[in-house]
Amino acid sequence: MRFLITGAAGFIGSNFVRFMLDRYPDDEFVVLDKLTYAGRRENLDDIADHIEFVKGDICQREDVEKTGSCDVIVNFAAESHVDRSINDPGLFIRTDILGTHTLLEYARKNEVKRFLQVSTDEVYGSIEKGSFSANDPLNPSSPYSASKAGADLIALAYFKTYGLPVLITRCSNNFGPYQFPEKLIPVLILRALKNQSLPIYGDGTNVRDWIYVMDHCSAIDRVMSRGSCGNIYTIGTGYEKTNLEIAKLILQSLHKPEGLITFVGDRPGHDFRYSLSAKEMNQLGWNPQYGFEKALEETILWYVQNEWWWQPLINAP
Ligand SMILES: NC(=O)c1ccc[n+]([C@@H]2O[C@H](COP(=O)([O-])OP(=O)(O)OC[C@H]3O[C@@H](n4cnc5c(N)ncnc54)[C@H](O)[C@@H]3O)[C@@H](O)[C@H]2O)c1
Repeated sequence: MRFLITGAAGFIGSNFVRFMLDRYPDDEFVVLDKLTYAGRRENLDDIADHIEFVKGDICQREDVEKTGSCDVIVNFAAESHVDRSINDPGLFIRTDILGTHTLLEYARKNEVKRFLQVSTDEVYGSIEKGSFSANDPLNPSSPYSASKAGADLIALAYFKTYGLPVLITRCSNNFGPYQFPEKLIPVLILRALKNQSLPIYGDGTNVRDWIYVMDHCSAIDRVMSRGSCGNIYTIGTGYEKTNLEIAKLILQSLHKPEGLITFVGDRPGHDFRYSLSAKEMNQLGWNPQYGFEKALEETILWYVQNEWWWQPLINAP
């Protein structure tokens, strides 16, 4: 099998390629990535000899065509940071919606066997109690989540209209190695390491369901091999934590004082709680393999041991 993995110089995609190479060493993996501020060749250094890397933009048909033919496309490429989407929504609409459309057209013309669109819990918006399931209504709050929701709908339309074998995964908040230091967990780890204040939005009670990135990778693999085309799969773990709890756990692990926590003005349109069901994933035989506390410890250790990776990034725009 020949896989085209887009956006795999970023956080989840790079972990996914590593996961797949380990599991399917005889398959071929082509990475297409524009190398935006969030994408880095360094994220693939250890597996560079085992993949084909194409620098290019998913919005440009010629760039996508440079990757050659493939059996499966997994689309991770996106602008992914909510705060940035508030400042520059147009970029998110271009990459997340138009980019996905370009890939879908390419997939249709080349008759790919699977097109897996990697989406997010944020498309459902906030939920006070219980958990969202796949076919619950979309109610995105930010330009980021709205652009992801738009991409999902276009992908589903390609399934219904053209019979393209599309699958969609919507996953909760990821954490783990190689996550860009603008997202909550790496921001808090790196600031704590430097004895800087830990900025927490609002009163810190916003709740997220957390998943270790390798569990997300195994879930995508499971959906690719056992999922039914045209379906949406929600991937949650039930590891729900407030932002304040996360900050305290990180400080505890690094033996730093809780006095470093500083509350800052809330993000506009900040969703209070995300929660997803994993019922359909459980039916496919998938369950998370990593407990939250242990995976968080491992993630903290990775940042402590890999200063070479994050030091050049901490002052990035
Ligand atoms: N991080 C999470 O918690 C989370 C949760 C659920 C779903 N997701 C989804 O998973 C995917 C990956 O997220 P991530 O956290 O790894 O993001 P990331 O920002 O770390 O990586 C995104 C990658 O896409 C690349 N990219 C951006 N624009 C591109 C373009 N026009 N053409 C080609 N490549 C481009 C970047 O260079 C980067 O390598 C996204 O689609 C995101 O919506 C993320």
